[in-house]
Amino acid sequence: MAVMYVGSRYKTEPQQHVSWRQEQNAGEWESGDSILFHRLLNTSPSPSLRLNSTRHWVPNVFMEEISRLVFESLGLVAFDRPMGLISRNRDNPDALTLFQNTKETFRYAFEWDIKPSMWKFISTPTFRKMMRLLDDILMLSQKMIKDTEDSLKKRRQAGEEVNRNSMLQRMLKVDPKLAVIMSMDVLLAGVDATSNLLSAVLLCLAKNPEKQAKLREELMKIMPTKDTLLNDETMKDMPYLRAVIKEALRYYPNGLGTLRTCPADITLSGYHVPKGSHVALGFNVILRDNEYYPQADKFLPERWLRDPQTGKKTPICAFSYLPFGFGPRMCIGRRLVDLEIETSVAKLIRNFQVEFNYDASRPYKTFVFMEPAIPFRFKFTDIDQ
Ligand code: HEM
Repeated sequence: MAVMYVGSRYKTEPQQHVSWRQEQNAGEWESGDSILFHRLLNTSPSPSLRLNSTRHWVPNVFMEEISRLVFESLGLVAFDRPMGLISRNRDNPDALTLFQNTKETFRYAFEWDIKPSMWKFISTPTFRKMMRLLDDILMLSQKMIKDTEDSLKKRRQAGEEVNRNSMLQRMLKVDPKLAVIMSMDVLLAGVDATSNLLSAVLLCLAKNPEKQAKLREELMKIMPTKDTLLNDETMKDMPYLRAVIKEALRYYPNGLGTLRTCPADITLSGYHVPKGSHVALGFNVILRDNEYYPQADKFLPERWLRDPQTGKKTPICAFSYLPFGFGPRMCIGRRLVDLEIETSVAKLIRNFQVEFNYDASRPYKTFVFMEPAIPFRFKFTDIDQ
């Protein structure tokens, strides 16, 4: 059930997701580089799914492939159905437009919300374009939800037992309008941020092969064969994997920080901040500050774990690490991110040695969120066992 992803921490690969992925991966693959990533991720016992060579350089469009994968998973949560953006029939026209529009929306949001702009005073051509993009996103989301409802209705009428408990189904019962907004939010807020994190984890591991080896050691115990499926039980015991992901998010934070508007006058570190001021907590600066994180410029997943000798953890100020925000407005997608990133990284690192043999001194640039600034041409080499 898609809804299981949201509330519970380690409900990894629920049966519906597993069988859906298997269905998506059944049969022969199309030719062409762009589906390589999905082959890598879903290494299968079937010889038809194996690649000919044991070394694979992913193409320049790898980042788009990561985004497609994330979009497909989040789409399953938002719309209760496969979107049709990976594997066979991978260019479902509605899903593709939704995918492209959500990406473009952020470009415009940067132009208008971050940079000085006239749109608040006059309707500029680009403002009108943004409104058309948002209208299309709304229309397509409504259409997808209607298609899902129609298909569920048909299956129910045919006497099939269908899941009534997904996030979408429950939201529709509360308020159909809210269900549409929620589904759009999941895609708009989730796809880029989650895709970037996956690329960041792979980059950190590629640039730190000794950490990658340590992670693989942990993964081999949980996934003794290449095609071991993950579930909530097997995912319980992966502390190093979680530390790696946490450290990658510290090393390459996704956003600038947390923003709030002061509801009342307040004094912060001796500065008077009047009611109504916008305050930004720039955690991306704190996360690279040696005062909070000793050896801040090093990728050290161990900083999040107990020292094996002393059993003690390095004290880290909880408020210095808020990549998902804080309080009632914190990110609603955090558990989904855990699920997506933990399963993807576990499968990839279990089965492949990842390398990145190019300059990675400035891999991201910052817009509303951080964005890739270089092509992520990783090299994947099969692990023998
Ligand atoms: C690595 C991935 C992600 C990161 C780093 C991230 C980070 C954040 C941050 C920092 C906020 C602002 C929190 C605050 O102001 O306290 C936020 C809000 C939000 N996120 Fe995420 N997010 C990620 C993925 C997702 C996903 C997958 C979803 C989809 C379910 C999502 C949905 C949202 C929504 C709807 C909000 C607005 C919440 C509100 O205003 O009440 N995010 N996210």
